[in-house]
Amino acid sequence: MAGPLPTLQFVARPGILDLSWGHPAGDALPVTAWLEATERTLTIDGSRALAYGYAAGPAALREWLAARIGAAEPRPCDPAGVFVTAGASHALEILAAELMRRDDVVIVDAPTYHLALRILADAGVSLVHAPTDSVGLEPAATAALVAELRAAGRTVEFLYLVPTFANPTGASLPDDRRAALVEVARHLGLTIIEDDTYREFAYDGPAPPSLWGLADEGTVIRIGSFAKAVAPGLRLGWLNASNDIVDRLGRRGYLDSGGGVNHLVAMTMAHFGESGAFDRHLAVVRRRYADQRDALVGALPPSLPVAAPAGGWFLWVALPTEVSATPLLAEAERHGVSFVAGSRFYIDGRGEDHIRLSFSMLRADELTEAARRLAAALSATIRAAP
Ligand SMILES: Cc1ncc(COP(=O)(O)O)c(C=O)c1O
Repeated sequence: MAGPLPTLQFVARPGILDLSWGHPAGDALPVTAWLEATERTLTIDGSRALAYGYAAGPAALREWLAARIGAAEPRPCDPAGVFVTAGASHALEILAAELMRRDDVVIVDAPTYHLALRILADAGVSLVHAPTDSVGLEPAATAALVAELRAAGRTVEFLYLVPTFANPTGASLPDDRRAALVEVARHLGLTIIEDDTYREFAYDGPAPPSLWGLADEGTVIRIGSFAKAVAPGLRLGWLNASNDIVDRLGRRGYLDSGGGVNHLVAMTMAHFGESGAFDRHLAVVRRRYADQRDALVGALPPSLPVAAPAGGWFLWVALPTEVSATPLLAEAERHGVSFVAGSRFYIDGRGEDHIRLSFSMLRADELTEAARRLAAALSATIRAAP
């Protein structure tokens, strides 16, 4: 007989300190504050919170988000250009379904969020990596690549990247490249899909302005998520797009049939935001994740040097030249620690020279022990090298 049916996506493996998952720590999830917001929602909104919701999401959440985004970014945000989704993954899935055609080329950063590559691949598009250097995506070389692909008859309309506190690198695209990239996209009629999932986790100062904030209407579609900043179980996020794209997304059959996604959760998030509970929660978890970052960075051995990223949940660690990520992973698991091999974040086999370590799920003392185990695994791998 099969075992009990699972409830959660992540299941801890006995004996393994797992640095591979970018999930929030269980005890950092705002159970009590969310209960209060839910009670408030049902008390104030009553049956309206339990009815089918409006296709693009309830007004209260779209308006609260628009006001918050407008206050933080260099340009105002129209609530009619906010579309509520079941998380960032769903946002990408519906953008691909509505706007992309099989065999179109989608340009993707290198490296980039591996599971976004899967969502895009599901749409049948061809993925091509953007040219990059040590600082990140190169706008001028990307423009040349797009021109070359178009001259060869390919349709190239979208570029996907995580420019702020990226998964997997933790890095943010510098300001001059942000401006240049937005200009290249405007000039080429290329739409940037900006995955801004980690924006709220800025530890050493404010996050850079979003590409969406720097661009004209229509050049950037920005994806946001409450999965990391509040809780993944909400399955709630949004996108900022032109009113035209929001209208198109809102006319899809599943919404006509079923109404806006996660309506009660979206209504509750509006109360969670308006009451100040969101900002209070962020202040607590930001400090916590910054401490976890410092614990892991500080505990890594000199053979795995890494600069602390200014935000996000990941360290992108270069390996000594004689070591590759996949054999190191096997050795690391024998030593009781796990991570993701860098090659998962490319579509072309690159990346065996890096590993991604996530510091979000473990306490500082566990991170220190995980770094010790990783150092031992690295030494064993180097000793075994021919
Ligand atoms: C860059 C990035 N985008 C999207 C997601 C998924 O977000 P959501 O849970 O809102 O679908 C993740 C989660 O790891 C992520 O790292």
